[in-house]
Amino acid sequence: MTDNHYRYDPPINTTMKRIVVLASGRGSNFLAVASAIERGEISGRCIRLIVDRPGTLAAVRAEEQKIPVSLLHYSDFSTKADYEKALSDLLHMLNPDLIVLAGYMRILGLGIIREYSGKIINIHPSLLPAFPGLNAHGQAIAYGVRVSGCTVHFVDEGTDTGPIILQRCVSVAEDDDEVTLADKILVEEHIAFPMAIALFCQNRLKVFGRKVILLPQSSEHNPHEGH
Ligand code: GRF
Repeated sequence: MTDNHYRYDPPINTTMKRIVVLASGRGSNFLAVASAIERGEISGRCIRLIVDRPGTLAAVRAEEQKIPVSLLHYSDFSTKADYEKALSDLLHMLNPDLIVLAGYMRILGLGIIREYSGKIINIHPSLLPAFPGLNAHGQAIAYGVRVSGCTVHFVDEGTDTGPIILQRCVSVAEDDDEVTLADKILVEEHIAFPMAIALFCQNRLKVFGRKVILLPQSSEHNPHEGH
């Protein structure tokens, strides 16, 4: 499928979706999404960034963007269940239409995954189903693939197994290592993630089993169609 197929126009008259982002670190994908929102490319508002540890660059970036941040420091909770309960309570309070995992380095609990089924999106730095889980870049280099990339997908109960929204690929050169490959893929991530979120916010993604169908733009969203 070509990029053109995924083309989106700036939304008009669309209800703004309430977007909550979860991150654990650098936050470059969070920034890419926040910037796309700022440019009017996504009909949503980032109402909160939630981080699971203190001192993240993601939180600094959110503060610069005037986006409120909640810190739920994982180590402050005695059990994973306690942490998940606090996260679930916070999400109930925020009432998001979409939860975006942008470098969130934890497996979400099943309760949250089930409650927000079809409303949680993750980005993974490989062409899934190849190289799920940790160190996707290292796995790709070790395997010797010629092509890798990134995948934006809905989150289901497995690890990086949910229905795929879109993928972008990069060539792997013989002298690439984990670091250079990660840099190449990150460029594509910053295109793919805002694009997928824009489509979600236009209600254009429908999941049928493993497949995500891209619906055409409705007249509500398409300024080129009649009234
Ligand atoms: C990205 O490579 C993303 O694919 C993966 O974690 C990394 C997060 O990077 N899930 P950043 O924090 O968005 O810069």
